[in-house]
Amino acid sequence: MINSIKWLIAFFILIISCNDDPKTDPGDLSHIAYAPEPYPLTIPVGLPKLPDSLVNSLTREGVQLGRHLFYDPILSSDSTMSCSSCHNPHKAFTDNLPVSTGVTGMAGNRSAMTVLNTVYFNIYAGHNNTGLFWDGRVPDLKAQAIEPVQNPIEMHEVWPNVVEKLKRHSTYPEMFRKSFGITSKNQITKELAANAIAQFESIILTGGNSIFQRVQRGELFFEADQQEGSDLYFNRDLLIPDAQCFHCHAAPLMTANDFFNNGIDSIKSLDDFKDKGRGGVTNIRFDNGKFKAPSLYNIVLTAPYMHDGRFKTLEEVIDHYNSGGHSAENKNPFIQPLGLNNRQKKSLLAFLKTLTDTTYLENPDVLSPF
Ligand code: HEC
Ligand code: HEC
Repeated sequence: MINSIKWLIAFFILIISCNDDPKTDPGDLSHIAYAPEPYPLTIPVGLPKLPDSLVNSLTREGVQLGRHLFYDPILSSDSTMSCSSCHNPHKAFTDNLPVSTGVTGMAGNRSAMTVLNTVYFNIYAGHNNTGLFWDGRVPDLKAQAIEPVQNPIEMHEVWPNVVEKLKRHSTYPEMFRKSFGITSKNQITKELAANAIAQFESIILTGGNSIFQRVQRGELFFEADQQEGSDLYFNRDLLIPDAQCFHCHAAPLMTANDFFNNGIDSIKSLDDFKDKGRGGVTNIRFDNGKFKAPSLYNIVLTAPYMHDGRFKTLEEVIDHYNSGGHSAENKNPFIQPLGLNNRQKKSLLAFLKTLTDTTYLENPDVLSPF
């Protein structure tokens, strides 16, 4: 009896040591060098610094891996859809559709948001940032990147499958090794994939080369209509109306990083919103119908507008705000009839056009590697 137990133990030790032996692990990656280099991130001039801990966590290898994953349909169930299908760099990382359609052809209920500058929505300890999505339901880009893959109206895949596909792939295991120092293909996880995607998204920044920012730093002057639009937006001229925009779309990020009801829905009670928005996350009735106020950089490129893409043009958006919107208990008090005349509405639009900055397209790291 004792003898057979001894044999059994010896047998297990043999198995364990076999598994530990790199030569017998077909997924072994330890022969590949792991020497990640810091990513040289450039923050757009005039935009806030990012926390050192975040900037220091970005590596060239991690960003490259994330870039590949972002543009690769391998993440979807039928290999037809990548993140970039709905976040196209040439459409300021949106799809220009009212609501997005997933692999099954099923339409979602929300409009794709840009991924530009979204790293500023990450929630850091001590900072009052909003989180990701129209309702802020996830805290940061790493948590966000998990969701589209498994969302049935987006990529409709399951992570264990994706991880298997990545393990079998001819180049991804090596890229995971170089990014994260894993020693075996079996250490590829959805968390590492999401981490890489988040690193990639963190470098897609915009704003510093907009006319608006260049005027701020004295390189340019506004045209007369842009100047009037800016004065309306920021309430800088007491002789013309206050368009109230800056309260919720504040400089320099052109967002106040918060949720509001901006009066787009006509409802009788706070229970009537078709999409509860923030209220669906907090379960606070007064948050129903509140959504994240998006950044307005590149806004001319990302039509249609609002969480459900209900407005086709910026003219319609401006008409909405000028009207004061629909009343609701929780409509923000800054949403009120503005009294802008036609010229002032055009000037406001001219100002919004100064918020365009597509120089991120000049960085090859941002574009598809395929
Ligand atoms: C089928 C289209 C579709 C695909 C594919 C898709 N997204 Fe999205 N994305 C959306 C929509 C729609 C939203 C807004 C959803 C919401 O608020 O509920 C969104 C929101 C986001 C946001 C939040 C931005 C912000 O300002 O809060 C990020 C970041 C993002 N997507 C990244 C990704 C990544 C990374 C992938 C690939 C893993 C991906 N998306 C795949 C449609 C898509
Ligand atoms: C009380 C806060 C508030 C004020 C004031 C405000 N907005 Fe908004 N804005 C929002 C919110 C919240 C959304 C998103 C609402 C939604 O999708 O349901 C939004 C959305 C937008 C959008 C669409 C963004 C997109 O990506 O689809 C544009 C454009 C816009 N606002 C421009 C303006 C302009 C111009 C002004 C001034 C005339 C203004 N906003 C004033 C809160 C505000």
